[in-house]
Amino acid sequence: MNADILKKTAKEMVAAGKGLLASDESSTTCKKRFDSVGVECTEENRRQYRQLQVMAPDLEKYVSGIILHDETIRQKNDVGENFAAVLAKRGVLPGIKVDAGLDDLALHPGEQVTKGLDGLRERLIEYKTFGAMFAKWRATYVVGQNLPSKAAIHANAHAMARYAAYCQEQTIVPIVEPEVLIDGEHSIEQCYEATVAAQKMLFEELKGQDVFLEGTILKASMVIAGKKAAKQSTPQEVAEWTIKCLKEAVPANLAGVVFLSGGQGDEQATANLDAMNKIGGTPWPLTFSYARAIQNPALKLWSEDTKGNVAKAQAALIYRAQMNSLAASGKYESDLETKRPY
Ligand code: 13P
Repeated sequence: MNADILKKTAKEMVAAGKGLLASDESSTTCKKRFDSVGVECTEENRRQYRQLQVMAPDLEKYVSGIILHDETIRQKNDVGENFAAVLAKRGVLPGIKVDAGLDDLALHPGEQVTKGLDGLRERLIEYKTFGAMFAKWRATYVVGQNLPSKAAIHANAHAMARYAAYCQEQTIVPIVEPEVLIDGEHSIEQCYEATVAAQKMLFEELKGQDVFLEGTILKASMVIAGKKAAKQSTPQEVAEWTIKCLKEAVPANLAGVVFLSGGQGDEQATANLDAMNKIGGTPWPLTFSYARAIQNPALKLWSEDTKGNVAKAQAALIYRAQMNSLAASGKYESDLETKRPY
């Protein structure tokens, strides 16, 4: 492990006005997204869609890194250059999702634990040869009556800490992602309770495995009412509850916090991040690591003409990245949406 490189990479990932683009959907998730717009989910279509993102003009102005999938890090653009190498040349950090998805947690119906520790060291060594500078591991929690359970929180936190240690052993910055799912009728208070418990346990376990926090990034879910809750949360509420949660659970020496969009609307995810940064005063930069909230309009445009609409789709992708870059500095205004190119 090289602590200086870990620290430098983590800092770059959350540099002022920049965030991450998550483009690491598994083929199953990718199929869901492609099905929703009527594109066939073949390996070649996935390659073309990923190429559109990796090659988007001006990407490096707003995006510090892209999280790739195992399939994507092995793919090349039309002129035979590896995607990871193209990104590195542009000054965008290549990252890799390394968890192996979710498994049902034994004795805990409805809850899941993330797989992927077996063979992880060897996979990380291989990803490094492709140029991966950081990695991601996602755990999920359902909010409900007596959920998430202590067992689910503990099992996932422990696995995430072991994953983070493997990453740092190879000088790869770990992103730890304890996602409290937005599905459900729960209130913002219930989301807060679940999120703070999951994050606290995660940092205990990270400490237990001697993980170097200055070289670690937290990918957090925002504290927000469930999608089906009677009372939906305003950006101000999301910002206040999320910052309260982070201040309670997250050590000040962590390198940074990035957020997932989790099924929020595109503009909602931007407005919520912006509200947090308008409050400010946290010891860590707060920025984005969105998949859907950056990709949605681009995917739709591309699906309408996968050959002819590449430039239009790229402009849409970059516009959302730019709006989120402004939100990462608390400088987003909803009026800007009238200027969008889609
Ligand atoms: P969403 O922003 O679509 O939630 O995806 C982020 C992500 O990487 C989930 O692991």
